[in-house]
Amino acid sequence: MTDLIKQAAEHLIKSKYAIALTGAGISTESGIPDFRGPSGIWTKDPEAENRAYRVYALFQKDPKRYWIDRLTMPSLLGNLDQYAPNPGHLALAELEKMGILKWVITQNIDGLHQKAGSRNVLDYHGNAFRHRCVACGSRFESRAFDLKKLLEEDRLPPLCSGCGGVLKSDVVHFHEPIPFDVAEQSLEEASRCDVALICGTSAVVYPFARLPQVVKQRPPGEESIIIEVNAEPTPLTERGISDYLLRGKTGEVLPRIVEEIKKTQPQRSQSTQR
Ligand code: APR
Repeated sequence: MTDLIKQAAEHLIKSKYAIALTGAGISTESGIPDFRGPSGIWTKDPEAENRAYRVYALFQKDPKRYWIDRLTMPSLLGNLDQYAPNPGHLALAELEKMGILKWVITQNIDGLHQKAGSRNVLDYHGNAFRHRCVACGSRFESRAFDLKKLLEEDRLPPLCSGCGGVLKSDVVHFHEPIPFDVAEQSLEEASRCDVALICGTSAVVYPFARLPQVVKQRPPGEESIIIEVNAEPTPLTERGISDYLLRGKTGEVLPRIVEEIKKTQPQRSQSTQR
């Protein structure tokens, strides 16, 4: 593993435009369960996954019912406010401060990359702390709304202050299209990067799982490198889309890569932007 850590550090140091693609696995060490790992939410309760597949259709049919359910039924991930970033998130934030990591594209809705200090984050599956207008696409901090009051006064669903359209959670549900702005920029970043760190994802949910293939589609002579950091091999490993797998916990492996970079380039420890 040490050799792979050194190799990953080398690839990142030499990179011109590195990005990270992350999934639920990077947040498990903060206490948030993943979905398909050995103690994942879907692993333990397949019926919960089936129900999750029906949420977007409910919103389209009856936005008021959708909001009543969201406000009265327990959330799968619990109260996301209670969780803190772990060393894996902090390591990616440090790589951004060093000027190495340009963007994080995450499937996670927990906002932990932002809490860790990453500034360039694309929330590919949305963010649990925001609402989004389905008419004009505007996004709002959820704390700007007193949803409990709207529920008590029978005034759900919340409406967009800009266009009067119906708001839903910014979280992207199964069958819901990825918001165009995020989908568009994610494709751009994946096509532009020369190194991608893919951390804590089973890489089975599309369209996110197509991004590693986009990373690989570069002209001859401009090949990109995909470094996978995951507790177990994934289809990316098996199909040889990732160049190598650092098998382990993101909260342990990512900090070791950052330490290796600092060892070979001490000047970066002062978090100089490149
Ligand atoms: N370090 C490294 N890998 C880990 C860790 C860890 N600490 N903890 C879990 N993993 C691995 C698991 O073994 C698994 O391979 O991370 C991966 C998490 O995969 P999933 O649970 O499928 O999560 P993710 O890939 O993000 O799921 C994608 O599916 O249900 C939807 O919308 C949901 O965004 C989610 C999407």
